[in-house]
Amino acid sequence: MAVQFLKHIALEIAESDCDKAEVFYTAFGLELRRNSLHMGFACQGRQYDSLILIPGSDRKRLHHVAMGTDIAGLAAIEERLAAAGIEILSMIEGFNNGGLWFRNPHGLLFNVQVCERERDVTPEAPFLINSPGHYNRINAGAMPPKSELGEVVPRKLGHTLLFTPHLQESIDFLIDVLGMRLSDRSQDAVAFLHCQGGSDHHVIALAQSSAVGFHHASFMLATPDEVGVGGREMINKGYEKGWGFGRHAIGSNFFHYIQDPWGSFIEYYADIDYIGDSDNWEAQNWPLEDSLFTWGPNPPEDFVRNYESE
Ligand SMILES: [Fe+2]
Repeated sequence: MAVQFLKHIALEIAESDCDKAEVFYTAFGLELRRNSLHMGFACQGRQYDSLILIPGSDRKRLHHVAMGTDIAGLAAIEERLAAAGIEILSMIEGFNNGGLWFRNPHGLLFNVQVCERERDVTPEAPFLINSPGHYNRINAGAMPPKSELGEVVPRKLGHTLLFTPHLQESIDFLIDVLGMRLSDRSQDAVAFLHCQGGSDHHVIALAQSSAVGFHHASFMLATPDEVGVGGREMINKGYEKGWGFGRHAIGSNFFHYIQDPWGSFIEYYADIDYIGDSDNWEAQNWPLEDSLFTWGPNPPEDFVRNYESE
């Protein structure tokens, strides 16, 4: 009786930023579906928009996080909200979905709605590597010529990382009210939470800051090669500031981040840990030196800067 998946993240932006937002996210591989009130960016062939931009703000800031559940899940969350004394807000203009709107203790706006969990991504050929004693790819090369690579196609929205002014209270809210589970954390700096019933290692991650804010949204690619190719393509398109290619320790994913027009990030990932059964996953509290990555270039100096707090 909990949230089942991350549906979208909505950001407010300035009207004057709409064009550069469109160029940036379509360069990343998302498709634009516009309506009269906002811009929705979706993975090709997916039902739901993953990123929604609401023009008209004085600057970019996190607007809300939308999660999906079923009828019983919504009823259970409504009960827990009442028990916690959290006010249910009225519908937000432009988002007429019948779900519940409410804020966490730090003002972060959530929407939980009854909606069918989108089918999982279409299965693809497994990534095969030759390793000592294991010749998994025989009589076949791994890479096509560069000219035949084509552009990478994000398969689905995987997770988001949000800033919070109080890490533990934000963790408690996601667990106690939304029914999520802690996957891992690193001291009082960062925490990673997943949905019960089969989930990527993290669906919502939280980083300690002085205020609420959006850090990044992350999209699945099929292989580490695609993460490398996608990151390189974004550099070739002029988006040189980012971080990658590298691999995280917490969640194990290969990553390449690209800085968006507002100083936050978007991430390509592959090979993230999968938690099939929350009861058989033991959350670890990782040392701070493991909180960011295992290998890769050093992150840019503003990688964990919350521009929304300024
Ligand atoms: Fe990420």
